[in-house]
Amino acid sequence: MARAVRWTGDYSHILAVGQAMTELIWDGKYVDGKRQSPVRVALPFQTIETVNESAADRLRTLDLFAAGRQTEWRNRLIWGDKKYVLPSLLPEFAGKVNLIYIDPPFDTGADFSYTATIPRANSAEEEEPVMFSKEPSILEHKAYRDTWGQGLNSYLHWFYEAASLLHELLADDGTMYVHIGSNVSHYVKAVLDEVFGADRYVNEIIWKRQTAHSDIGQGSKHMGRLHDTIFLYTKSENFRWQMQYTPYSDEYFQAFYKYVEPETGRRYRLSDATAPGKSLKGNPYYEFLGVTRYWRFSKERIAELYKQGRIVQTKPGTVPAQKRYADEMPGVPLQDLWLDIKPIQSQALERIGYDTQKPETLLERVLNLSSIPEDIVLDCFIGSGTTAVVAEKLGRRWIACDLGRFAIHTTRKRLLSIPNVKPFVVQNLGKYERQAWQIAEFRPEGTAALEEQRLREAAYRKFILDLYHATPLSGQTWLHGLKAGRAVHVGAVDAPVTLADVKAVARETWKMAGSGGGASKAAADILGWEFAFELNEIARQVAAESRVDVAFKKIPHEVLEKKAVEQGDVKFFELGALSVEPKQKGRELTLKLTDFLVPIDDVPEEARKAIKHWSQMIDYWAVDWDFKEDTFHNQWQSYRTRQDTDLELSAKYEYPQPGSYRVVVKVIDILGNDTTKTLEVKVR
Ligand SMILES: C[S@@+](CC[C@H](N)C(=O)[O-])C[C@H]1O[C@@H](n2cnc3c(N)ncnc32)[C@H](O)[C@@H]1O
Repeated sequence: MARAVRWTGDYSHILAVGQAMTELIWDGKYVDGKRQSPVRVALPFQTIETVNESAADRLRTLDLFAAGRQTEWRNRLIWGDKKYVLPSLLPEFAGKVNLIYIDPPFDTGADFSYTATIPRANSAEEEEPVMFSKEPSILEHKAYRDTWGQGLNSYLHWFYEAASLLHELLADDGTMYVHIGSNVSHYVKAVLDEVFGADRYVNEIIWKRQTAHSDIGQGSKHMGRLHDTIFLYTKSENFRWQMQYTPYSDEYFQAFYKYVEPETGRRYRLSDATAPGKSLKGNPYYEFLGVTRYWRFSKERIAELYKQGRIVQTKPGTVPAQKRYADEMPGVPLQDLWLDIKPIQSQALERIGYDTQKPETLLERVLNLSSIPEDIVLDCFIGSGTTAVVAEKLGRRWIACDLGRFAIHTTRKRLLSIPNVKPFVVQNLGKYERQAWQIAEFRPEGTAALEEQRLREAAYRKFILDLYHATPLSGQTWLHGLKAGRAVHVGAVDAPVTLADVKAVARETWKMAGSGGGASKAAADILGWEFAFELNEIARQVAAESRVDVAFKKIPHEVLEKKAVEQGDVKFFELGALSVEPKQKGRELTLKLTDFLVPIDDVPEEARKAIKHWSQMIDYWAVDWDFKEDTFHNQWQSYRTRQDTDLELSAKYEYPQPGSYRVVVKVIDILGNDTTKTLEVKVR
């Protein structure tokens, strides 16, 4: 159990006598008297998609890149665990980020689930779209274990690691806002004090996030929990600050602006025109309208104000006062109680279906307080994308990260719906994240641990191979089993299968088939829990180029349920298959989606009934009309929104030049998984 301790001799191995301080200790903070620091491996980012870049910009980027010159800034949406993403940002961004807003998970409950929707088969249909809760993926389960596996101890260590890296990323005049719940806010503040220094604490903002809480029904013995806390810390004393103002209340007007100008109806107050500090502050002393005083203004200035009707003497002989109009005042300087920012109502246009989605007005206030256009804003728990969307709208540069596939997809869609959104890239750490994970998770602590690890992995693979009715295979690195003459690869439990994995499997399968090592043909089934945001179709082609027939199959979630396994009804679905019909007329190409098959094991039985047409499984699709073997360039897209649930099923493009083109179509299903299809076209 984590606890706040007054420093005593118990911990004298950590601090020398005389350095007494109050510190929050959690299990795992110190090992053998040494503070444990965050993982610091910087991994290279892989760009898997470029969104909204014009053809001209694309060429310029390629040219700059080829010439080894700095390419232009692109906003970045990164799919990955903050544990790997933050250290990987350090080489480029240490000391450069101007504003950080984070809204990390702080509830042991539902932080990783989201509501998915099966849209209506057509918009004329009466029936409402079917909603269901999407359970966390394997990757999210793992992140959850990282965060809460050891209760508060692991949470605090997890948070401490993030706070330390974020502190390093922050510019000298940067600020960090940490949005957190009252169940952990007191601990989080202690951690922030430690990382930033208690003197860098500026405010604890109380945001009233709900009007009433439903958990205080009859008999409950606590008050409604209506607020979240947002801590504000800064890197140094000199931080960006643009005071914000809230409108005056009616009571305030009545009390302070009691006069109304009859000619204009403008409300005003009379404030003292004499100087409070008298001569001590160098104020002038003279006679004005028969009254001799120390004044706030010079003699010339007061005469000018009087001419403008801004200095008023109510009766001869009384002290003249300054007239201040209410409509010229900026409002009440912002206080730390934020009661005026309303939660997102269920019918609000900006609502996405993300339980923890924050209102854009909240982020607008944060960004307006502590950043200016072109500043870099970072949020490593982007969720539904609010921070990136607001940063984009306010002309800030942004970096957003999340480990949830659905979060990345939702954010991309929200960004795309902003008129003239600047080009941005979608990135991940690909195979590097997996390697780092293996190094971190399976750090050898002697042969015994390694051996245990090997055995554990082997047992896991055997379990999956059994379910797949494959026989284990030994002596190969990437191939783990055989089924009906095909080699079988079992993807790691905690990481997506990547393009690099596919290449390695294809290479080994080809070699084995040639050497008569068990497989009767050069064919492999790749089983995985998750498949990286990469081009499935390209992966298939890469394998085909190595003359290997590869099939991708999803390890179903039922595997985790003992009952389903015992009943033997576990099905391994082929990854999505997309059919696209191309039609050419002169230089014009029309693409029509004609079929889409995806594994639906993540859709609950009940909700499946609502699927009447394959297109209901598609949430979004995009086309790169001229794929250049680099990254997918999103040049056209159609997607569903809450307001407009329809989807176009065909797309058109007129090629400016004749030539041979490779076209890539990318479909994202309602659960955030992507499937791609490539086509070759010859334009005359
Ligand atoms: C409370 S939500 C953020 C909501 C967001 N502020 C919004 O307005 O939509 C927290 C997010 O953190 C993500 N997350 C949790 N652990 C993470 C980790 N280790 N690395 C990156 N993202 C993580 C979750 O997937 C979730 O989307």
